[in-house]
Amino acid sequence: MNGKRILLIIGGGIAAYKSLDLVRRLRERGAVVRVVLTAGACQFITPLAASVLSGQEALTELFDPAREARGANGANEANEANEANGGIEANGENGANEVNESAIGHIGLSRAADVVVVAPATANLIAKMAHGLADDLASAVLLARDKPLLIAPAMNVRMWEHPATRRNLAQVIADGAKVIGPEEGAMACGEWGPGRMAAVETIVEAVASCLSERGAEPSPRVGQNDENGERRHNDHALRRVETLSGGGALGGRHVLVTAGPTIEPIDPVRYIANRSSGRQGYAIARAAQALGAHTTLVTGPTQLTPPRGVEVVAVETAQEMLEAVEARLAQLPADIAVFAAAVADWRPASPPKDKIKKGPDAAPPRLALVENPDILATIARLPTGRRPTLVIGFAAETSDVVENAQKKRRAKGADWIVANDVSPERGVFGGARNTVHLVTEEGVEDWPELSKDEVAHRLMALASAELGHHRGGQAQAERRAEKQAKPRGKQRAAE
Ligand code: CTP
Repeated sequence: MNGKRILLIIGGGIAAYKSLDLVRRLRERGAVVRVVLTAGACQFITPLAASVLSGQEALTELFDPAREARGANGANEANEANEANGGIEANGENGANEVNESAIGHIGLSRAADVVVVAPATANLIAKMAHGLADDLASAVLLARDKPLLIAPAMNVRMWEHPATRRNLAQVIADGAKVIGPEEGAMACGEWGPGRMAAVETIVEAVASCLSERGAEPSPRVGQNDENGERRHNDHALRRVETLSGGGALGGRHVLVTAGPTIEPIDPVRYIANRSSGRQGYAIARAAQALGAHTTLVTGPTQLTPPRGVEVVAVETAQEMLEAVEARLAQLPADIAVFAAAVADWRPASPPKDKIKKGPDAAPPRLALVENPDILATIARLPTGRRPTLVIGFAAETSDVVENAQKKRRAKGADWIVANDVSPERGVFGGARNTVHLVTEEGVEDWPELSKDEVAHRLMALASAELGHHRGGQAQAERRAEKQAKPRGKQRAAE
């Protein structure tokens, strides 16, 4: 993100306080950040705090005669150099970012940015965007925008699920916005559900992926002609609207996820199972869908609500899970496959048709077990063309977590393994949080303790950047360069 210019519009919600941290994190990654606050945002945070953290005056007013006059002046030929910088300069004295005052009228603000981010994007702001209202600085800037737009919605769950918000969001996506989140969880208002703003780290990853996507594959703007001379507006967008998925970095991609336990019948009424809740896999499916992917979730039995906009295939046994995965991949090859299911390793060899009876003198039955097929290994070994571009497995370990995960990665032929410690005292099975290590060919990243939603968003953001690499090479090169400059997690040596 070095030197990239980000225009951050902060809406009026309780999540606004997190956006101050977002400013800090973006600047840590080398970005230059300009902040616009709505009147609502000023109820939660102050322009002063945003100015101090961004190193530039945070803007709030649409009608500022002096600024608009300077903006007009910025169009003057004599000021061409300044205009090229668009009023946001990276190298001020003392490392602070200086404002080039020549071109920061509301039109100039978007010209000055590489990407526009709205976080939190309130129901009101989304509605204004959908209808093209421009009655304050934030909405006027959004209407005058000519740069990619990433929005991080945050609102009460009822507002999020209201048909008006769904319609407005669909319109905003159709108009080219990428959407990150919201996440599910406890809300400030005391309710539970989707509506929390995506984690700051997740938004940072999404911004990075948005920027690298632009670099790797400059796309025509909405409404322009593509290389075939066709109007680009938008079977892509329409597909996104259809599933109400985010218009994000995984738009047009297919992501397949396995989740939950499998259950293996002993007889018609009894089965072998495990403690998997399915929460991590479901969170990954939601994250993939939020980034715009067509998402298939093949799930064993869980107590969870099927994620909205995700194609769900319910199965019970490992054998059924393998068949469902193979059938879906045969219909629609996947770009990314994530195997988060806790598949039973063994199944009773020949479950009887009738219930096994106790009987007064009968000894307890001895269960003969046979090994189940390894779904991850089977898919990872498919020939090129049928194999998903990126195959990600999980490793549930109770000891030597990273070492075992490294062995599993090699043995199963996965590209990445997300390793976690599932010892009972860690509370991972059934819990809401996870501490994982990402094991790749390049090495191991130790991630901090995160919610399962955060793990999911981070994983999908990295996966989408990795696909960018497969497409053009640039995304990964940038990621590697960033890693070398400033590791995100604790980075270990390669395997
Ligand atoms: N997996 C799979 N099919 C199986 C077993 C495991 O697809 N029959 C996948 C899991 O979804 C996970 C990875 O393989 O992505 C590792 O699963 P894990 O339970 O950690 O390891 P196992 O292969 O079962 O090995 P062990 O139980 O010996 O640790």
